[in-house]
Amino acid sequence: MRVLVTGGGGILGTALRRARPGAVELVSLRRADLDVTDRAATLSAIVGARPDWVIHAAAMTDVDHCEQEPERALAVNGAGTANVVDAAIAAGGGCLYLSSDYVFDGRGTRPYDEFAPTGPLSAYGRSKLAGEREALARGGRVLVVRTQWVFGAGGKNFVDTILKAASERPSLKVVADQRGCPTWSFHLAAALYELLAANVAPGIWHVSAAGEASWHEFACAIVAAAGRATAVAPCTTAEYPRPAPRPGFGVLSKSKLRAALGHELPPWEEGLKGYLAALAKGREIKP
Ligand SMILES: NC(=O)c1ccc[n+]([C@@H]2O[C@H](COP(=O)([O-])OP(=O)(O)OC[C@H]3O[C@@H](n4cnc5c(N)ncnc54)[C@H](OP(=O)(O)O)[C@@H]3O)[C@@H](O)[C@H]2O)c1
Repeated sequence: MRVLVTGGGGILGTALRRARPGAVELVSLRRADLDVTDRAATLSAIVGARPDWVIHAAAMTDVDHCEQEPERALAVNGAGTANVVDAAIAAGGGCLYLSSDYVFDGRGTRPYDEFAPTGPLSAYGRSKLAGEREALARGGRVLVVRTQWVFGAGGKNFVDTILKAASERPSLKVVADQRGCPTWSFHLAAALYELLAANVAPGIWHVSAAGEASWHEFACAIVAAAGRATAVAPCTTAEYPRPAPRPGFGVLSKSKLRAALGHELPPWEEGLKGYLAALAKGREIKP
């Protein structure tokens, strides 16, 4: 199977290179190789490569930056996705588009399934939902994979931020009223390859680690695993205002994934352990 990845220089793009199964021939394009907002270049690059699948991981992912430049966010995450999906279909293949728990309003109390009503709070969430609609409107072999709280090598991530803060400060405050499923990029990448190999039905799929946590619980686990004595106090989102609103409850239900693959992703604690072990061995090299 020939797979082309957009956004190959990011966190997921990095993991997709590391988790590549032997049967997959990978073409990984960074932003410098392909800007997905350039429709002609996108069609030419993807049709020329003739992939069986495109994993569309390129996106404007800085949530607060998206809030400041909503039109740019829509151009990259919405219109850019239309370009990529059209190109994948023109190449005779399918497209797996990465979306986010930020398409939900965060007021839920039970894990969201694939049919739960959306209601994004932020410009980032609206742009990712626009990308979903562009992708699904095209028919064909299109998978929309919503994931969340991804950490790993290849970009700015929460684990690195907490490790650095814990090494510099005696105490930290971390928000305790947002919940999600912290997901190691390597586990996510492996599950995406499994979904493609299983030839699952087109449509929306939720894929994130098993279990759930608040950012505060996640930070406590990071500090403990790193053997630091740093105190981690809980705080509210209101105490830590950011330009873009975040969903309070973002936990995704993975029942559909479990039924299709016969298993879920490993629990987030295992993902954290895996990432820290890889960091210690120097395998997770920063760009
Ligand atoms: N990380 C998470 O927690 C998370 C959660 C839910 C969903 N997702 C989704 O998962 C996907 C992968 O995210 P990630 O964590 O790998 O993010 P990432 O590390 O920010 O990677 C995204 C990549 O896309 C590139 N890019 C930005 N604009 C582009 C453009 N116009 N054309 C081509 N490439 C462009 C970025 O390049 P530059 O660095 O040069 O801008 C970056 O390398 C995205 O669709 C994201 O929305 C991520």
